[in-house]
Amino acid sequence: MSDQVDQSRRNMLFIAAGGLGAVAVAATAIPFVGSMFPAADTLAASKTEFDVATVEEGQVVVIQWQGKPVFITHRNQALLAQLDGHDDLLKDPESKAIEEVSATWLNDKNRKYRSIKPEYLIVVASCTHLGCIPLYKPSKGREEWGNSVPEDWVGGWHCPCHGSLYDLSARVIKGSPAPHNLHLMPYKYKTDTTVVIG
Ligand code: FES
Repeated sequence: MSDQVDQSRRNMLFIAAGGLGAVAVAATAIPFVGSMFPAADTLAASKTEFDVATVEEGQVVVIQWQGKPVFITHRNQALLAQLDGHDDLLKDPESKAIEEVSATWLNDKNRKYRSIKPEYLIVVASCTHLGCIPLYKPSKGREEWGNSVPEDWVGGWHCPCHGSLYDLSARVIKGSPAPHNLHLMPYKYKTDTTVVIG
């Protein structure tokens, strides 16, 4: 019973997060001026620091980096387990597309998680079809989400604009109009929980 209550409570937080759009925690949006030879202060300004420990287990928050919305998702063991067994449903299960080249940390050991630390997924929060912000729908099946997801829904994100679906590693599901997985970005951990994006 308590597990059911906890799950329900977490899902309500998920729904609130998806519904509000800009959610919970927002780092300062910092303008980025493109240049062939950017000054050191410009390079510094293109980076955003964030303490991932502030994201509760099972939740997602949206921050901004270079004016773009970014999802930071804290996946617990149950959510990580939902990544298994559906590679055949995905357009690019191993994130081999050219769009991933900016994620220099991506390697054969972390392709399923698409993150440096499996529990923290960090992706650009823009659908790769036409840029809408997808809604977080982490639980499997249709019980909570109705017909917005398929019967065999594996949990992840649903784009409300034209129906693209992504799993819990933000890998796009076949049949979606979106061509690619949600984009990754360069980042590294400055401390055990402080991530520097950019
Ligand atoms: S913008 Fe997401 S499906 Fe079209």
